[in-house]
Amino acid sequence: MPKVIVIYLSTSGNTKAMADAIVEGASSRNVDAKAVNFNEAKMEEIIAADAIAIGSSTFNYKMLPPMEKFLQNLEKANVKDKVGAAFGSYGWSGEAPVLIAEKMRELGMKVLDPVLRVQYQPGEKDLDECKRLGKDIAVKVKKVPEKSTRGSKLEDAGVREVKMGEGGH
Ligand SMILES: Cc1cc2nc3c(=O)[nH]c(=O)nc-3n(C[C@H](O)[C@H](O)[C@H](O)COP(=O)(O)O)c2cc1C
Repeated sequence: MPKVIVIYLSTSGNTKAMADAIVEGASSRNVDAKAVNFNEAKMEEIIAADAIAIGSSTFNYKMLPPMEKFLQNLEKANVKDKVGAAFGSYGWSGEAPVLIAEKMRELGMKVLDPVLRVQYQPGEKDLDECKRLGKDIAVKVKKVPEKSTRGSKLEDAGVREVKMGEGGH
């Protein structure tokens, strides 16, 4: 079954609510989907994922530094050709999801357009949009051919328990 991981940074639960709804939508389309806080995300889970959705709220017109660091580390998971999606709650400018999508593209991911942004706390309609995004990710991931060798090099190198939000190595 294709795997979807939804990784989020959320200070007061708004982006987390989006992440949970994305998982709900994806799960309804027969993919193995889960949401994890960015500082709990394990390298092995990221390597094993066929699609990675990343969400962050916006602070001072960008992401919070720990999320920027997480994205820098993503390079080590060899995410090229994986499906990507960016989302996040915001208040007035909402740059974070756009910056996430930019980084995903730089890393060679197939990013769904447009990014999904919700102002402050998601309401019922917003959560429906999030579920829709989850379904879209599931559909897209099923069209990506399986790669039997994906990630094996890193796994062999013993990076299984590395948490992406920790350290910079
Ligand atoms: C100190 C502070 C700075 C913020 N800066 C921005 C900003 O620059 N642009 C913006 O769109 N929202 C900004 N926000 C609003 C948050 O992005 C918004 O409250 C969001 O819903 C938080 O979501 P979360 O609970 O997932 O972290 C800021 C909020 C705080 C508390």
